[in-house]
Amino acid sequence: MKYDVIIIGAGAAGLMCGIEAGKRGRSVAILEHNPRPGNKILISGGGRCNFTNINATAANYISRNPDFCKSALARYKPEQFIALVEKHGIAYHEKTLGQLFCDNSSKEILAMLMAECSEADVTLLLNHRVLDVKKSAEIFELNTNQGAFECSSLVIATGGLSFANLGATDFGFRLANQFGLGVIKPRPGLVPLTLDRNTLEIFGELSGLSFDVEAVSDAASFKESMLFTHRGLSGPVILQISNYLNPGETLRLNLLPETSAQEFLMSEKKNPKELKTVLSRFFPQRFLQKWCPLNAPSKPMNQYLPTELESIAQALRSWPIKTAGDEGYPKAEVTLGGVDTSELSSKTMETRKVPGLYFIGETVDVTGWLGGYNFQWAWASGHAAGQFV
Ligand code: FDA
Repeated sequence: MKYDVIIIGAGAAGLMCGIEAGKRGRSVAILEHNPRPGNKILISGGGRCNFTNINATAANYISRNPDFCKSALARYKPEQFIALVEKHGIAYHEKTLGQLFCDNSSKEILAMLMAECSEADVTLLLNHRVLDVKKSAEIFELNTNQGAFECSSLVIATGGLSFANLGATDFGFRLANQFGLGVIKPRPGLVPLTLDRNTLEIFGELSGLSFDVEAVSDAASFKESMLFTHRGLSGPVILQISNYLNPGETLRLNLLPETSAQEFLMSEKKNPKELKTVLSRFFPQRFLQKWCPLNAPSKPMNQYLPTELESIAQALRSWPIKTAGDEGYPKAEVTLGGVDTSELSSKTMETRKVPGLYFIGETVDVTGWLGGYNFQWAWASGHAAGQFV
């Protein structure tokens, strides 16, 4: 079977690329090994798909080359995807921080992409597993569990390693290796963190408790909600900082992100009540019962020396917490790293070494923050390649 363009992977990036290439009159087939397309779209955003972020810029992405994503993001903006959503009559809302979600269900986004594929005459072939790929002259030859395929443009849109139960594989990285392309070592991103045994013995009992903090690493900081889990820490702020935390680096938490700890404690220094009572204005008692004994002797506020109050303020501002690692790909929303962007044209996503071979979406070393940024990269990189394949 011969097509102009074969796309491997019917996720967000592959479907968008197929639509754009089909609209240009190219004959396009998308090969997907799952029995249905868009598994991650369906599960995303708690079933309501956080399909973009109106504030998306290159500053919201992590890559060895932070400029690489600029061109594709500039040529396919959140407004363009929103226009598509509106054309299909899908109701949506901004939840917080520019994050757009469907009012009803992620199924609507997938149905929209399917409708666009069919209008652009894109062939979607499910249950197709690619066994190997060869290139001879200008043609790619694909051997699959359902026969042989040929194309002149081959797009790899097989995503990253997270959530193998939804169909994630290392196919993209293996293919890159086969063709001699560099791959930045993948690692789990947007992932809950685990705590070392001693810390977990103290704080593990708080599983389910959450409050707002500022999480700080050497490279970045975020203010949002943190959640204690029975294995460590999660919640939006932890997922965000996980993208920036180096293995073994100590995470620092500003427990009073909107208040000066120093000024607050000084304003309470004549109070006869205990520290944990005074701090209960900000934190649940269950947390204070664990945190206070580690950071201050138990006594009424009016008995602390100014130097003691300063060290408590410092602990509130920058509480160091030793992480043991993370919960890995089964719980990671994305994969950091991937095909080295220096191998690709930022305009077309085509590899420089292998003409006709393209990489898009999460297979590429471009990873977004939590909040619709990763889908925006999938749409933008798929759109970019779709204009040239
Ligand atoms: P994606 O993984 O979507 O698609 C790859 C496709 O290739 C899959 O269909 C897979 O089965 C197929 N495939 C893999 N190997 C193959 C092979 N060898 N042969 C054939 N097919 C193969 N992002 C966001 O912006 N907003 C959100 O709300 C969420 N929510 C969210 C929740 C959860 C639980 C997860 C795990 C992730 C998110 N994300 C997200 C991240 C987002 O889902 C992700 O970044 C994009 O789906 C990436 O799109 P891709 O098309 O690159 O890969």
